[in-house]
Amino acid sequence: MAENLIISNNSSKEEKYEVLIPQLKSLVANEKNLVANLANMAAALRETFGWFWVGFYLVDNDELVLGPFQGPIACTRIKYGKGVCGSAWKQAMTLLVPDVEKFPGHIACSSLSVAEIVVPIFDQNQNVIGVLDVDSESYNVLDQIDTVYLEKICKLIDVS
Ligand code: SME
Repeated sequence: MAENLIISNNSSKEEKYEVLIPQLKSLVANEKNLVANLANMAAALRETFGWFWVGFYLVDNDELVLGPFQGPIACTRIKYGKGVCGSAWKQAMTLLVPDVEKFPGHIACSSLSVAEIVVPIFDQNQNVIGVLDVDSESYNVLDQIDTVYLEKICKLIDVS
């Protein structure tokens, strides 16, 4: 595909996701390299939604290790079950955290991040191989719409 995104600034969040998803599909369609695909997905998501931080952590033994991301530098390793990311991995489910201060054990990579959503990425055997983490500087930006669409986006990731 052409190496530029086509997203209207005037669209609703749902419309942006609906327009973004086919573009992400074609972006990753002919590329098997996981790092390359995650890097482009992180960039596309940040460009579309302007979040404070968006990126991936990948499972490495009993830890998550920082993968491709867009935004300020971040913690490199997160233990299984720790923070929002490690908890989403342990629970194998999406965690939407509207106020990180209210999440016991939240790992503050940046004090500017006040809300986040973490979506697990599964392989064909339903094992979690990593997570997508989105951090926002604003309350009331991340919601169930993001949960639905970010889960769809994580299913586009081919981990075979
Ligand atoms: N806040 C996350 C850590 C990752 S950074 O925000 C990029 C957590 O609690 O797992």
